[in-house]
Amino acid sequence: MTEDKAFISQYSDKVIDHFLNPRHAGVIENADGIGEIGDPECGDFMRVYLKIEKHIVTDVKYQIRGCPASIACASAMTELAIGKDLDDVMMITDDDIVEALDGLPEVKIHCSALGAGGLQKAIMDYYEKHVAGSGSPESHYTG
Ligand code: FES
Repeated sequence: MTEDKAFISQYSDKVIDHFLNPRHAGVIENADGIGEIGDPECGDFMRVYLKIEKHIVTDVKYQIRGCPASIACASAMTELAIGKDLDDVMMITDDDIVEALDGLPEVKIHCSALGAGGLQKAIMDYYEKHVAGSGSPESHYTG
């Protein structure tokens, strides 16, 4: 087995698909929330952008510098979050991302923390900018 084949065989078909065809990569102009997270162990980095309307996460995009597993995790994270209620999106965990990808090699499990952590930070940023500061959460929740 060549080195490339050995490398690829560690990953599920879903990981490879998300890595080769990342969903929702990019930037959201005028995002409602932005979260940044880095992994001190490997130096990888991710920025997550959120669009939120009536308490629903309508769009998620990201910029990432990371390994193939982290790119797949970021892509899977967007599919888990888009279209869901903000309260449900806040509950998305590293494990949910790993499960959505049909698993990750043990040494790559930590890469999922980048996706979930970036998402949580973007949500916190949304609450700080649009809810905590306004004094009127209802003004952004018209559902
Ligand atoms: Fe750094 Fe995967 S090795 S996020």
